[in-house]
Amino acid sequence: DKGNYRHFMAKEIHEQAEVVGRTLAHYVNFSGERVELPFELPFDFKDLNRISISACGTAYLAGLISKYWFERLARIPVEIDVASEFRYREAPLEPGGLALFVSQSGETADTLASLRYATAEKQHTLSVVNVPTSTMARESNVVAQTLAGVEVGVASTKAFTCQLTVLLSLAIAAGRARGTLSAEDEKELVNALIAVPGQMTEAIKREHQIEVLSRELSKAKDVLYLGRGTSYPLAMEGALKLKEISYIHAEGYAAGELKHGPIALIDETMPVIVIAPHDNIFEKTVSNMQEVAARGGRIILITDEKGALEAGLDTMATIVMPSVHPIVAPIINAIPIQLLAYHTAVFMGKDVDQPRNLAKSVTVE
Ligand code: F6R
Repeated sequence: DKGNYRHFMAKEIHEQAEVVGRTLAHYVNFSGERVELPFELPFDFKDLNRISISACGTAYLAGLISKYWFERLARIPVEIDVASEFRYREAPLEPGGLALFVSQSGETADTLASLRYATAEKQHTLSVVNVPTSTMARESNVVAQTLAGVEVGVASTKAFTCQLTVLLSLAIAAGRARGTLSAEDEKELVNALIAVPGQMTEAIKREHQIEVLSRELSKAKDVLYLGRGTSYPLAMEGALKLKEISYIHAEGYAAGELKHGPIALIDETMPVIVIAPHDNIFEKTVSNMQEVAARGGRIILITDEKGALEAGLDTMATIVMPSVHPIVAPIINAIPIQLLAYHTAVFMGKDVDQPRNLAKSVTVE
């Protein structure tokens, strides 16, 4: 049931504050201001030398964001692969390590094959899945469920932000176990998480501005997305969303890679979407934006109030997001990214819930 929405994708974008809140309630003790995982772990984060993550598509990009979190908050090295590579590359894995999988459906063929490989290599397996009865849930040692509810739109939206919520909770739990986060640090991070649903409700109020902007975007043949830190995987997610539902070619790049090639593409016909919350690397992203602007590139900047004030350059548009703790910024900034893709595709008359050539669940290689 689409309720009052034109498409499932719109409904699912709008549902995110609610389902992220529900997922959060499962992983966080609000009054205790600490993470409480709803399952026992058959290993101790303290004993791990690394985490190996594999997943596909949007779930892979959620995993890539969590790499930054696990490494920063728990000081644990993370390697991550798309599952179609992991399953065949015969990665050497130390017995007793942790292999982590992310999947909305829990049925994706390559991710499932990677899970089976990890099991055979004597890894502890932990899967972040949305469908608790799925094959991956059945075959994993630990199931970390996202409570996104049924996701109908082929383009993943609410499952993605719920995956991020669970992964950040896990990274905080890992940081506590490894002694890299004090009780005070944990409190600060948990409060940042608790604030997310409210901030998502605020973020979605930018929809009208984004809808207007989408008309511009729909004229583009190619779109470049840039970001640093956790905004880099989000840039790739933005590009993935746009290409899969509007069929406009888009690429996500680490902003620092701009001058190593893609800068050659910059001209007035290719919009450049920059995701740059005001964090410790904001200045670096600003200098990349200046490089774009100096070559006549048209910038759509997604930032917060402080970032908008300090960016100091002419943009085609600036989408001002609520000011949030930098650690949770990718969860909030997922919303304008999704809305941009959605409205562009709708404006172009595309079938956003059923994009051509795509299936909701990829159960064959
Ligand atoms: C993109 C999208 C796909 C899926 C991918 C993995 O919007 O939905 O990239 O994320 O096929 O699917 P799951 O999460 O079911 O393993």
